[in-house]
Amino acid sequence: MALDIEALRAEAQDLIKAAKDMDCLSQIRIRYLGRKGELTSLIKNIGHLPQEERPKFGERLNQLKLALTREIDEKQEAIKKLSAKTGTGLDLTLPGIRPERGRKHPLTQILEETYHIFTGLGFKIAEGPEIETDYYNFGALNFPDDHPARDMHDSFYLGTDNLLRTHTSPVQIRVMKSQPPPVRIIAPGKVYRRDADITHTPMFHQVEGLLVDNDVSFSDLKGVLTSFVHQMFGPDKRLRFRPSFFPFTEPSAEIDISCVMCMGKGCRVCSQSGWLEILGAGMVHPNVLNEVGYDPEQVTGFAFGAGVERIAMLKYGVDDIRLFFENDIRFLRQF
Ligand code: PHE
Repeated sequence: MALDIEALRAEAQDLIKAAKDMDCLSQIRIRYLGRKGELTSLIKNIGHLPQEERPKFGERLNQLKLALTREIDEKQEAIKKLSAKTGTGLDLTLPGIRPERGRKHPLTQILEETYHIFTGLGFKIAEGPEIETDYYNFGALNFPDDHPARDMHDSFYLGTDNLLRTHTSPVQIRVMKSQPPPVRIIAPGKVYRRDADITHTPMFHQVEGLLVDNDVSFSDLKGVLTSFVHQMFGPDKRLRFRPSFFPFTEPSAEIDISCVMCMGKGCRVCSQSGWLEILGAGMVHPNVLNEVGYDPEQVTGFAFGAGVERIAMLKYGVDDIRLFFENDIRFLRQF
């Protein structure tokens, strides 16, 4: 019996030493220390020993049990450390890391809502380059050579002929030059102007709209914009068309909606007027149709351009445009 204990100890220690992973170790633990393990069966044999040898044998067994428990625990720690260091192990007992959930930027939300509204009205989405030539940005849009919008103070020029587009209207020209009528597009994108205060940033977004076909009239423009405003801001909003001027549309209008803050009663946001300007629009100028090779006797069209930040500010009640570009998570979380 005495021999058995030493043989058992040697055998168990060899196995513990050779164990390579947690699985292996827990099998060793069960095999020697478990309820039906080898140590337990030795204890059961204690009755076969002479009375006087029993206490001594019991004590030795107990010591072996403690020793094996400690050695297995130590080996377990060693395996854990090693696998953490080599990166081969995966410790499923560590608490998980919950990934932060992202969300869409408020401007992206407004853009997607705009696409949804206009694709529902049969418009396709078109795009153009942010670096434009003077011709597409101004010339083809019927800007006279000495028009103040060409002034260095409004535009970011890149050399003498190229500039960062100051509006999305050049996409009108690119689309019309690339296909015959009918045309029914919206063109979202970034535009650039030398301007910076609480309602202007040097880069902002516009959505251009263009529809050219037979017999398109100003009332079609009114219908499309009314549908847009009602879907974007609510059916209770009224629209007001004010005469305006753009070189590429005739007649031209600026469109106001009844103030979203005071419902038209007059407040600080609408400077007591009850109205807020939201976009520019008009009937495509015959000179522009001629420039792209369309016949103004055959087709007519309307165009409009809206500021995306402006729509977002009005819809969400944001009073400083710069907040959209500061990436302050506390601001962005609110939408
Ligand atoms: N491009 C004009 C602007 O940026 C807006 C506009 C677009 C006006 C289309 C009329 C028609 O101010």
